Amino acid sequence: MNNLTSTLPSNVEPDLSVQIGKMHLANPMMTASGTCGYADEYADFADLSKFGAFVTKSISKAPRKGNESYRVIETRAGMLNAIGLANIGLERFISEKIPILEKMGIPVIVNVPGWCVEDYADVAERLDQELPVVRGIELNVSCPNVKNGLSFGTDPARLAELVAAVRKRVKRTTLIVKLSPNVADVAVTARAAVEAGADCLSLINTFTAMVIDIEKGRPMLANGTGGLSGPAIKPIAVFMVHRVYSQVAKAHAIPIIGMGGIQTWQDAVEFLLAGATGLAVGTALFIDPAIPNKICNGLRDYLRRRGHKRVQDIIGTLQT
Ligand SMILES: Cc1cc2nc3c(=O)[nH]c(=O)nc-3n(C[C@H](O)[C@H](O)[C@H](O)COP(=O)(O)O)c2cc1C
Repeated sequence: MNNLTSTLPSNVEPDLSVQIGKMHLANPMMTASGTCGYADEYADFADLSKFGAFVTKSISKAPRKGNESYRVIETRAGMLNAIGLANIGLERFISEKIPILEKMGIPVIVNVPGWCVEDYADVAERLDQELPVVRGIELNVSCPNVKNGLSFGTDPARLAELVAAVRKRVKRTTLIVKLSPNVADVAVTARAAVEAGADCLSLINTFTAMVIDIEKGRPMLANGTGGLSGPAIKPIAVFMVHRVYSQVAKAHAIPIIGMGGIQTWQDAVEFLLAGATGLAVGTALFIDPAIPNKICNGLRDYLRRRGHKRVQDIIGTLQT
């Protein structure tokens, strides 16, 4: 990293803008899928128009009720959820939510789940027609495949097949593949996604985990297991972002959206140094929905103090 000690003059505002595929973002901050609904729910709590982008919760072809409760449990350093991808379905999303999202005036990324290749490809193709509001499609590959019960995101061959099929039908928007951390080496699935045509990688999704009610002798979540998020997973997320950046993304010039426990501007800087270009905040939004805006302020001060004119200057500059 550049060891400049001179600060920028106070009238120079560091440039926080970043390029992610075809999307130009005013700053790297965005919501993590599933933690900020469809945006209208949060409008009273934070100025979402100041975020770099908005990522929706997973939108499936048909509406889904999701799992029984409990669906969310707080843990000592994070949160466990098994929402079961509850959502209003593709057609209602397009007719009811896109007009609301359009008013925000920032790029919208729609998260797409699926249980077979056709599910993903059909929904992605339909959403690709919603440009200019929808600017990115993020594949949630952590869903179990109907054929074998394993998630696409843990099997590099199936992941490659999925991404190649969706790639053929997504022509206008940026195709993002959201990687699962529940693998032995995340660089292997990252490479499969990139070689099959992903424009961008996002990581990490949640870790499969369990909390037990010791009086009932049963798991706390109705689903049994859930996905662990929040501060508990941050150091692993930073490691995985750096692994994917150094082993795959850097050589292919593929941007990474980093997430997993980001809560402060210092957390954000760690992810940027590790190789992330975009930064998503999930669990921390439940504490303070304005965290992404506060992180931008902290980032500007950090860059000014270190003499950097652009946030891009620090991406992937970790010295190892
Ligand atoms: C309540 C909740 C719901 C989530 N729903 C989704 C979802 O629908 N699709 C998805 O890809 N990820 C979903 N995630 C995962 C987050 O987008 C993110 O990858 C993960 O929580 C790590 O970030 P964080 O530690 O900042 O929360 C969800 C996370 C939480 C906490």
